[in-house]
Amino acid sequence: MEELLLKKKHDEHRQGEAYAPLQSNVIKYSRYFYIESYGCAMNFGDSEIVASILAAEGFGATSRVEEADLILVNTCSIREKAEQTVRKRLTEFRKLKVAKPATLVGILGCMAERLKSKLLEEEKLVDIVIGPDAYRSLPGLIVEAEGGQKGVNVLLSRDETYADISPVRLNSNGITAFVSIMRGCNNMCSFCVVPFTRGRERSRDAKSIVQECLILFATGYKEVTLLGQNVDSYHYVSNASTTPVSFANLLETVAMISPHLRVRFSTSHPKDITDDVLHTMAKYENICKHIHLPVQSGSSRLLQMMNRNYSREWYMAKVDRIREIVPGCSITSDIITGFCSETEEDNEATISLMRYGKFDMSYMYFYSERPGTLAHRRYEDDIPEVIKKRRLAEVVETQNRLSRESNKKDIGQTFKVLIEGDSKKTIKDWRGRSSQNKVLVFSKEGYDLKAGDYVNVDRKNIIT
Ligand code: SAH
Ligand code: SF4
Ligand code: F3S
Repeated sequence: MEELLLKKKHDEHRQGEAYAPLQSNVIKYSRYFYIESYGCAMNFGDSEIVASILAAEGFGATSRVEEADLILVNTCSIREKAEQTVRKRLTEFRKLKVAKPATLVGILGCMAERLKSKLLEEEKLVDIVIGPDAYRSLPGLIVEAEGGQKGVNVLLSRDETYADISPVRLNSNGITAFVSIMRGCNNMCSFCVVPFTRGRERSRDAKSIVQECLILFATGYKEVTLLGQNVDSYHYVSNASTTPVSFANLLETVAMISPHLRVRFSTSHPKDITDDVLHTMAKYENICKHIHLPVQSGSSRLLQMMNRNYSREWYMAKVDRIREIVPGCSITSDIITGFCSETEEDNEATISLMRYGKFDMSYMYFYSERPGTLAHRRYEDDIPEVIKKRRLAEVVETQNRLSRESNKKDIGQTFKVLIEGDSKKTIKDWRGRSSQNKVLVFSKEGYDLKAGDYVNVDRKNIIT
C-alpha cells in the first residue's frame, strides 16, 4: 500500500462545528436542539454530554438551526478572538430569533463561566447561561426559560465528572472517540483562563472510564483519546480501595482492553509526565507513539513568569527521556509569542528550543491577555501586536521547516495506519493516521478495506 499525499493536520481549536445527526431520525421528536461547539476537544466532549442530557428529556438533535427550538453554543474563552467569533455568531442567531421568537438560546462552556450573568445583559437574545459543571441543571433552566424566566447556573463543582452519563457521539466517524478522564486544572499558568472557567482539577472514576472504552470498542470504535487539561496528574482513589490509580495505571488498563484498540492521550504537562507513563507507552504497541507536550516558550525567564514550573533545561531533558524510552515517538507542542516583557532573545530561545525538540507539529499563537488571570494582574501586556505577530511568523516558519524535515525522515518507512474514512478530496482514497498522529492518504484501488481497518502504508511522496 502506497501513500498518495501528506496532509497537514487540522487546527486543534475547532470553530463552530454543528452537530450532524448520524442517522436520519425515524423517531419524530416534539422538540429539537441545535448545538455548535468551539474550542478544545474537552468542550466537544462536553457537547456530547449535553446531547445525552437533552436526549433523556426527549429533545431530538438537528443540524438545521432554523428548525431548532433550542440553540446552544458551547463557547471558548482561551483567547480574545475565540470570544469575538462567538459574539459574531450570536448576531446571526438574532435574526432567527426575530423570525421565530419562541426559540431559546443558551450559552454553554467557558464564556458562560467567565462572563456569567453579564452575558444576559450584553446579549439580549440569550435565555440561558450555563457553565461547564452545571449541565445537569439544563432541563430545569429550559423549563424556566419557556416560562419567560431567563436563567444562569455557573456554579463550579469540586466533584462533578459526569462519570455516569454516556455521551451521545456527535459528528462521529464511528472509529475514533474522545473520552474525558478528568476536569478542571490546578496549574494556574499565568496567561491562562482555564482554571477560572473549568474550576479545580478532579479525576473521573477509573472504572467508568474503562467501561466507556470497553463499550466503544464493542461498538466498533478502534481508537480512544483520553482527555484532560493535564492528564499526567490523573489520580483516582475509589471508596472501595485505598490504592490510587495513576495515569500510567489507567493508560495500561485501557491499552489492555484489546491490542486492536488504539489509545491516545492529551495534554501532557512537561513538569508532570513520568517515566512510568513513558515505559507504559513503550510496552504497548497500541498506545500511540505521540506526545503533545506544550512548551509555551523556550526562555526560562518567561517560563517562570508564565508559572509553568519547569525551565528550558528541564524541557530539553524531558525530550531526551522521551526519545530514549519511546524511540520513534513524535512530539508536538503549543507556543505563545509576545508574552509580557518578551525580548528578541527570548523569541530566539523559543526557536532554538523548537529545533532541539524537533517538533513534528505545533499549535502557535500570539499572546492574548485574559481578564482576571495572574498575568493580567501582575504583568503589563507590553509587546505591541505587530511585534507579537512578527515573532509568531518566525515561529511558524521554523515549525514549517521542522515539519518538512520530520516528513522527509518518514520517506521510505512503513507506517501502520488506522483508516478513519474517505479522503476529504475524493472517495477514491482512504484517509487515516499513523501511530505518530500524522494523516496519510492513499488509494483504495486493488484492496478490500474498510474504515476501522489497520493497514501498512509506505511513505513515498511528500507535499508541504
Ligand atoms: N492544558 C493545556 C493547554 C490548554 S490551552 C496545557 O497545559 O498545555 C491550549 C493552548 O492555548 C495553550 O497550550 C497555550 O499555548 C494557548 N493559550 C492559552 N492561553 C493563552 C493566551 N492567553 N494567549 C495565547 N495563547 C494562549
Ligand atoms: Fe491552562 Fe496551564 Fe492548566 Fe493548561 S496547564 S489548562 S495552560 S493553566
Ligand atoms: Fe477554550 Fe475552555 Fe477549552 S477556554 S480551550 S473551551 S477549556
